[in-house]
Amino acid sequence: MTHRNLPISPDPLEVKPVLTAAIRGVLARDPAITTPCLLFDLDRLDRQIDLWFDAMPSVQPHFAIKACDALPILEHFRDRGVAFDAATGGELETLSRLGVSGDKIVMTHPIRSQNDLETIRQHRPRAVVVQRVEEIVKFADAGIPNENYSPLLLIRIALPYSNLNKFGVPCIVPTERSDGLGMTTVFDYRPLKQIFTAARQLERERHVRFGGYGFAGHVGTNTTSPTNYQHLLATFRLLGQELRHRTGIRVNFFDIGGGYCDELHASRAGIVQRDLLAGISRAVERFRLDYGDDVEVIAEPGRFLIADSGAVVARAKIVTDSYFRSVAGTELFEKHKVIHLDDGVYGNLMGQIHDERVYEPIPFRRNASDTMTGPPIPCILWGPTCDSFDRIIPPESYRVPDGLQTGDYFLFDCMGAYSTVTATQFNRTEPTMLVLYRNSTGEVRRFSTKSQ
Ligand SMILES: Cc1ncc(COP(=O)(O)O)c(C=O)c1O
Repeated sequence: MTHRNLPISPDPLEVKPVLTAAIRGVLARDPAITTPCLLFDLDRLDRQIDLWFDAMPSVQPHFAIKACDALPILEHFRDRGVAFDAATGGELETLSRLGVSGDKIVMTHPIRSQNDLETIRQHRPRAVVVQRVEEIVKFADAGIPNENYSPLLLIRIALPYSNLNKFGVPCIVPTERSDGLGMTTVFDYRPLKQIFTAARQLERERHVRFGGYGFAGHVGTNTTSPTNYQHLLATFRLLGQELRHRTGIRVNFFDIGGGYCDELHASRAGIVQRDLLAGISRAVERFRLDYGDDVEVIAEPGRFLIADSGAVVARAKIVTDSYFRSVAGTELFEKHKVIHLDDGVYGNLMGQIHDERVYEPIPFRRNASDTMTGPPIPCILWGPTCDSFDRIIPPESYRVPDGLQTGDYFLFDCMGAYSTVTATQFNRTEPTMLVLYRNSTGEVRRFSTKSQ
């Protein structure tokens, strides 16, 4: 089913007034909410989870908790039947403190510390990922697998087109064509054979078993087209079939990673998230038919599940007028506002670096009838630390009302992913308050991130 005839993702300019009204409602319901705060709309989050289950019914989502590890959010995913991707021993411990059992967790960082190994042995995630024989040796030394624990062993495959290629075995090799007509790519199964052979040797020597073999890959974050997932599945198929054919090693578990875009990127690309998932789901079904063996396919969505339901609210600690500023190296005598916010690049707005986000926060007041007057004028937005790097840089065209005052609020949308998780403690600025709300029921719950 295609949804192309439905309106495309809502224009952020239409969404923001609706969101601002909702946030005003939440602030009115709980006057004890302080800033900076990260507010999650649970109705919106539930719709996103439903969308995944509806559009990708055969691919179990494992929420990548690196995108947001706030405990009430993890509890929500757990209660909705979403499984988890933990990168490190620390994330695995967080999940086990919430009572998430190991069979609902895959552990995807392919390089491990002693602490990671110890935590894996204790909490027994269902799958572990590797990319070198040395990691198999580390497992052997740590007594994994053992008679009580047989994790699936996945190899991370490097994908030349991914923007997340820190990890992975290079099996897609650029090669000159034999007819001299330029370059092509060949799929080299041999590095995979080497790793699985080491795993088999460990199994034989220690009389233990891994739970099965698999592949993992990540096509790159904020992907807006199914094409790269189709390539990933084609890569899995060719490498898996080649291994089976040449070595007898069977690979039956496939982790297609994260990367599914948030609403902001979907609307910019003119696509609908549902269409993206439906396209990937069709590719998965094709893969099942073509592979020629029983397979299980899972995924590790991070930002897709959590980005759009989260919003950050910050407050202007002080607003002053100034008349002299430099734009692109040119010095201008021009009235503008200098605004010091209580959140910044060392806080929840680290996405300016990590995601190359260009924030355009919406200024607002608690009371909608208390309008901000005056013509739109340029501004300089500082974060709360004493470091000059802590400057939020909106687009050059960004303007605020001249009537903006100390104490006014700023709303940042699409902030659920990679915000509190990457925030630092630099300068010991105010910690973020976490707020969960539902407009459908009027529920508002607030938590201190200090206690997390
Ligand atoms: C192994 C792995 N899985 C999943 C994710 C989540 O990616 P995204 O938030 O783009 O869905 C990441 C992000 O870095 C990752 O490294």
